[in-house]
Amino acid sequence: QAPLRVGVAGLGNVGATLVRILQKDGAELTRKLGRQLEVVAVAARSRSRDRGIDISGLEWFDDPVALAKWDGIDLFVELIGGEDGPAFAAVKAALEIGRPVVTANKALLAKHGVTLARLAEESGAQLGFEAAVAGGIPVIKTLREGLGSARIAKVFGIMNGTCNYILTRMGNEGISFADCLKDAQALGYAEADPTFDVEGFDTAHKLSILATLCFGYEIAPDKIRVEGISGITQHDIQVAADLGYKIKLLGIAERTESGIEQRVHPTFVPKGSAIAGVDGVMNAVALETDHVHELLLAGPGAGGPPTASSVLSDILDIARGTRVPPLGVPSDELLPYREAPHRAH
Ligand code: HSE
Repeated sequence: QAPLRVGVAGLGNVGATLVRILQKDGAELTRKLGRQLEVVAVAARSRSRDRGIDISGLEWFDDPVALAKWDGIDLFVELIGGEDGPAFAAVKAALEIGRPVVTANKALLAKHGVTLARLAEESGAQLGFEAAVAGGIPVIKTLREGLGSARIAKVFGIMNGTCNYILTRMGNEGISFADCLKDAQALGYAEADPTFDVEGFDTAHKLSILATLCFGYEIAPDKIRVEGISGITQHDIQVAADLGYKIKLLGIAERTESGIEQRVHPTFVPKGSAIAGVDGVMNAVALETDHVHELLLAGPGAGGPPTASSVLSDILDIARGTRVPPLGVPSDELLPYREAPHRAH
């Protein structure tokens, strides 16, 4: 079989980690797949920046759209980030010519997911986005392949590693919010603009993607009631602890009699519950179906290696020729949106 030639746009934390893994483990992956897998081209803002990877033998593109359309690749990986701009233009350009795309970009999918999924459907291209929700946890795969026909009643969880890291350290070590955020940034967990993390928007992006997959609800993160953690103080954490709770930033989407309700807010969770035990950069997504009361998937939610590993799992699926519907959006069956009331989880 011909090699699968991969082009990677965006060489930040996740992009550079992915190139490193593909270069280091290339031979092993090839053995596993029975097909050679190689990065042949990259696009990024700076060519000379030291990223700890050797890109000298790779084709270089200043413009990610030019890379997306280049006929020297079979698969385009978008790790630029941002909901519009070059990320959107490049993903659209690749899908339009029927080229498979893998992206970790939750902001992009939250804004343009349905458009991109329809484009992919029309051109027959695959669109992989496992890494866009909950970093290294294979939640998209579980929803699409593991739960198959089950009717999902509720999905909720901790979907932002930065916030969970901050809340955990504030609780365990009494460190200030600002210092915890600085550390999360240094560890490569936070978004380029950390407001997205701490104000809850990143969680809303991920929740809206999950809600679309779970309920066939059209993605609309701007309709989610969102409250972040920037107002949480040591006093709040202490009061929660005294009452037997921990504070977690949860994203929650559930089917109600009058429609789908979605919300993101800091939540008291009972100490001793499974979700309360998910600390640090870990994420957890709980799924309730008609048959399985609660399935909890937990794992690292942010950072280069876990996120790159989910990108890689999409690349491997495409290399194997596995086909999945782009978003599984049953367009004629969209459920209505219901305003989330102010109430506890
Ligand atoms: N900034 C995100 C987080 C990265 O902290 O969870 C993973 O999406």
